[in-house]
Amino acid sequence: MSSRQTYDFVIAANRLPVDRHVHPDGSYEWRTAPGGLVTAMESVMRGWESGAAWVGWAGFPGEAPEPFDDGKLRLHPVPLSGKELSDYYEGFSNDTLWPLYHDVIVAPTFHRSWYTCYREINQRFADAICEVAAEGATVWVHDYQLQLVPAMVRDQRPDLRIGWFNHIPFPPVELFAQLPWRESVLRGLLGADFLGFQRPDDARNFGRACRAVLGATTKGEKVEWVGTDDGRLGAAPRTVRAAAVPISIDASGFRELADSPEVTARAAEIRASLGDPEVVLLGVDRLDYTKGIRHRLRAIGELFEDGEIAPDQVTFVQVATPSRERVEAYRTLREQIEGMVGRINGDVSHLGATAIHYLHQSYGREEMAALFRVADVMLVTPLRDGMNLVAKEYVTARHDGGGALVLSEFTGAAEEMPQAYRCNPHDIAGLKETILRAIRADPEEKERRMRSLRRRVRKHDVQSWAGDFLAGLEAAPERPSRSGAKGDS
Ligand code: ADP
Ligand code: F6P
Repeated sequence: MSSRQTYDFVIAANRLPVDRHVHPDGSYEWRTAPGGLVTAMESVMRGWESGAAWVGWAGFPGEAPEPFDDGKLRLHPVPLSGKELSDYYEGFSNDTLWPLYHDVIVAPTFHRSWYTCYREINQRFADAICEVAAEGATVWVHDYQLQLVPAMVRDQRPDLRIGWFNHIPFPPVELFAQLPWRESVLRGLLGADFLGFQRPDDARNFGRACRAVLGATTKGEKVEWVGTDDGRLGAAPRTVRAAAVPISIDASGFRELADSPEVTARAAEIRASLGDPEVVLLGVDRLDYTKGIRHRLRAIGELFEDGEIAPDQVTFVQVATPSRERVEAYRTLREQIEGMVGRINGDVSHLGATAIHYLHQSYGREEMAALFRVADVMLVTPLRDGMNLVAKEYVTARHDGGGALVLSEFTGAAEEMPQAYRCNPHDIAGLKETILRAIRADPEEKERRMRSLRRRVRKHDVQSWAGDFLAGLEAAPERPSRSGAKGDS
């Protein structure tokens, strides 16, 4: 038995909330890790009263640092070698599962050796969780990188309460069925007591996959699997609950930040540095093919070329966070996007009036909030996205009553944000019309829409999401008696 301290609450995600960045001189610094998962869970854990542990990768290959404290949170780094990074993270997680779970926008790659590595790393995470979890602890596993972990943990520690939340879509069974390891993945997931998804459709897709692939039965949100005696992982009978619990943001914290004098001053500075245009359009995404950045650029490029908008009045700022840069599809995307930006700017910009400002960088929360404050129209045009927290951050930052949100119907956010200017990013003509509508709409209409959107996000913020998830986990496989969502105010 290890002498390590154990915790009543354990989070496991592929990444720790911080990444270690090593400088050329060998010194290093810890930076906030990218992505919506960390944004959301970091704010949940900031308000957490008792101790908790977070098991995850520290963001660099090789030996893992010793466990360390980050406020009340104990961080437990899991090591990944360069080869494991390439097979488990870049390979199986991001070149097999990611495209398969996002409507096969690019073709998924299937390699048996990648899956073998994925299974080994999932076991490593499961072992680390079991080491730090106290007797009867609650374990919250996150996302598609760790789908075998629930059953692996249950195998060793039947005393634990295990939840899993999927930050990305769960695909229709017609696509999921392509996965050669579909049965193992479902048996891995059924190790959880409660499985949370972004949309009701994702939870239903999971239930349908369990029926089709395992022969399980479903009744409402309950999934029942009679088990097998084949001795493989997840052979025991299970009854679990799978339901939608849409993720959100720390609305009050983000609003406070966006309203601060520093962010207000920075927003004015950004606007002036852009040449004080009449209209600023903004896109903020990880540089990912799911985000529809090419479709957005195509629409905007055509609007400039058609003369519907002119660069001395309208400018488009695209912030694209570097992401998964060693995966081929991401490298290709970067080349395509940078080629498009260069071509459009070359064709339509004038000296002193740049049509597109493209920034391939990461920024702090303050700078993001300032950019949102500057944006007259926010363009969120993914081809498929589990939720999209950027949409929720934008409406929250625009407490001043300004702004307009163009939102793809293929995001989880679209289900909760019907007052946005909805678009189908595949329909370039329709997207152009929607962008123009959002630019030209009467300010009262825009304000009305933004007010309802803000209210929705304030009511269903990240704290109520975490409360709903944990209530679901506690009551599973039954439904909890009441929801944690905040009342109207
Ligand atoms: P995903 O999880 O797919 O990256 P989300 O929209 O759900 O997408 O979450 C992205 C998170 O990362 C948001 O909190 C957003 O503010 C943040 N973010 C996006 N781009 C940048 C950037 N360039 N610099 C800093 N933060 C960023
Ligand atoms: O939200 C989806 C997600 O894949 C998270 O799991 C992840 O933290 C984020 O996007 C960023 O991706 P990555 O960890 O691969 O940089």
